[in-house]
Amino acid sequence: MIQTSLDIATIRKDFPILNRKVNGQPLVYLDNAATSQTPQQVIDVIVDYYQGYNANIHRGVHSLSQEATDAYEMARKKIQEHFNIATPKEVIFTSGTTHGINLVATGFSSFLKKGDEVMVSAMEHHSNIVPWQMLCERTGANLKVIPMNLDGELVMEEYHKLLSDRTKLVFCNHVSNALGTINPIEEIIEAAHNVDAAVLIDGAQAAAHIKPDLQALDVDFYVVSAHKMCGPTGVGILYGKEEWLKKLPPYQGGGEMIAEVTFEKTTYADLPHKFEAGTPNICGGIAFGAALDYMNGIGFEALTQYEDELVAYATQQLLSIEGLKIYGTAQRKTSVISFNIEGIHPYDIGTILDKLGIAVRTGHHCAQPIMDFYKIPGTVRASFSFYNTKEEVDKLVAGVKRAKGMLE
Ligand code: ALA
Repeated sequence: MIQTSLDIATIRKDFPILNRKVNGQPLVYLDNAATSQTPQQVIDVIVDYYQGYNANIHRGVHSLSQEATDAYEMARKKIQEHFNIATPKEVIFTSGTTHGINLVATGFSSFLKKGDEVMVSAMEHHSNIVPWQMLCERTGANLKVIPMNLDGELVMEEYHKLLSDRTKLVFCNHVSNALGTINPIEEIIEAAHNVDAAVLIDGAQAAAHIKPDLQALDVDFYVVSAHKMCGPTGVGILYGKEEWLKKLPPYQGGGEMIAEVTFEKTTYADLPHKFEAGTPNICGGIAFGAALDYMNGIGFEALTQYEDELVAYATQQLLSIEGLKIYGTAQRKTSVISFNIEGIHPYDIGTILDKLGIAVRTGHHCAQPIMDFYKIPGTVRASFSFYNTKEEVDKLVAGVKRAKGMLE
């Protein structure tokens, strides 16, 4: 019995997609780490925008443009409040987490020199590895890696040893997309600051489960995507401390990000617009605000507690299957179970589960170094949200048993 104050049956009614069938079976959606589903309340906001006030923002005196601008800036304010950010100037709308990381990595090209060091963790998504490798290629800086142990936890003693006055930047995910580990970002940030290094935390997998207080964390940059937290794809935010955002050069040139343009010289707009060239995903930004309203309406404390219980139950049930191994057994983890069954390729299990209407992700999860560390080609990953149920976990377990019986 899973205890919760949430009325999951009522919550599920908000998600029309959860009623559909896949391959003739009711959908069991367990790929929430790839993208979460969208509640009707957010879908309504998207429809209202296109039916009622679709217009470009910050550009027109006409009423529609004003309405769209007000709604977009209101969404920025909601995001600011949700993440406890000091000012809306520090909220940069992006197309998602990857965009935010690339913006910072490109900007830091002007600050780094040969011999400087940037550090990533061993459990990063490719989007938090490749942009820093490209930065190192441009500047001659060296990439260092914080190692992890077999439980999928960072080896913090090694991290402290790696830090030095050469370290200029540290990058780490708040939650690993492949293992579900919640990383000790408070300790990571504090130690990096002690050697005057800046820290970027990738919050893509955390923000749907944990409500971070960015001022309390004292983090320099934090990035998220709306589509992992009940919002649409193609929109996210980069939080940056104002002092950093003032120093960083613009990422893209274009309309919106300028103060004045002549052929001789261009001056840039104030924050946050300096980093928002071109027409943004206006509807997406407004819908991101609505998604936060929706999730806050449920309450992060209650949804986290429920998801933790669901994951604990799923872990226990899956481990009862002979030959099943879970990758990622950290003390602090959330919402993700990555596993394999001895002698069976993860792709084959995923394909059979799909035939049963169960959506999981298989493969390396854009985190090949983790798979190399465990010497496996990939895993089956079930990732949970607050709208999943114990009955769905039972279907997953039954499906895995069936797949095992067919493939052995
Ligand atoms: N980063 C997303 C995932 O882990 C796409 O599936």
